[in-house]
Amino acid sequence: MLLLAIESSCDETAAAVLEDGSNLLSSVVDSQIHVHSPYGGVVPELASRRHIETIYTVVDETLKQASIKLDRLDAIAVTQGPGLVGSLLIGMSFAKALAYVRNLPCLGVDHMAGHLLSIFLGEKQPSFPYIALAASGGHSSIYLVTDPLSYKLLGQTRDDAAGEAFDKVAKLLGLEYPGGPIIAETAKTGNPEAVSFPRAWLEPDSLDFSFSGLKTSVVNYVNRANQKNEELNLPNICASFQEAIADVLVEKTLTASRKANISQIVLAGGVAANQRLRDLMRFRGQKENFEVFLPPKEYCTDNAAMIAVAGYHLFKNRKHTSVTIDMDVYSRSQFHI
Ligand code: KG4
Ligand code: ZN
Repeated sequence: MLLLAIESSCDETAAAVLEDGSNLLSSVVDSQIHVHSPYGGVVPELASRRHIETIYTVVDETLKQASIKLDRLDAIAVTQGPGLVGSLLIGMSFAKALAYVRNLPCLGVDHMAGHLLSIFLGEKQPSFPYIALAASGGHSSIYLVTDPLSYKLLGQTRDDAAGEAFDKVAKLLGLEYPGGPIIAETAKTGNPEAVSFPRAWLEPDSLDFSFSGLKTSVVNYVNRANQKNEELNLPNICASFQEAIADVLVEKTLTASRKANISQIVLAGGVAANQRLRDLMRFRGQKENFEVFLPPKEYCTDNAAMIAVAGYHLFKNRKHTSVTIDMDVYSRSQFHI
């Protein structure tokens, strides 16, 4: 069974070909970072335009790398939401056109479902059920994943997402967009205990997150230093900020696993590419007898391979009609508590 997947929900144009649900034949990601970094964040209109410019080349290259011609495909999967509507529409329209021409099923995939199943692109894979932390630019949520199509939201951020906090703090410190990778790099030579930034635990046992207080605390710290004409120690600030985020993400994920009595923990989403978060999750997991599963970093950040995995399960479970030409995109998350 050969499936082509297309992802265009934010600032990556991506496509992948997956064989029989697990054998990834190709995965191409065209990142738009250079388009948006001068503005310190994603500019939706520019994102849509760039998707239009690159989608044909990305899909063509993906098929070439997989040595597959269009007539060999059995289905097409495409990210339906959540994301930027203009960007989603480019991938959706392209996928529908291909599906219509080849008379193939066109499957609308939820972007978060893709992240939650991205672990199946790695070598070490969990069985069901597992607890997943999905931390990206738009989401910081904990899910109970009971099968490839069932996800229960256990907790989510009440304000900023973890990735969003990385991006905003990087901007404040004069570092480039996206903030996650550059903060992680700068933090390497810093002391994580240099500045005691706050951790928002919220109510006892709450599985929700809040990162806006942490962000404000970094703003205040920087302002105070500027007023006193003190030089900022960027490595120390970055390391301390990163530690505060990793601490809360790991602790709440462990609490969720304990409460649900589930021993397998999966990390997903762009922030899951953060080495400190990965190390801390693995360390705490080992100490407390949880098995921790980490997707390869390239499948943490947005890609179409994860959309292909989720699309495959929809296809297998016949969650599609023949050609879903009237399928629409959506901007907001579909999974609620
Ligand atoms: O999953 P993703 O590629 O896109 C969304 O669905 O949002 O996540 C992007 C987010 C950005 O906020 C970026 O700063 C963050 O993931 N990120 C990281 C790292 N790499 C990407 N955050 C921390 N450490 C990293 N190494
Ligand atoms: Zn994502």
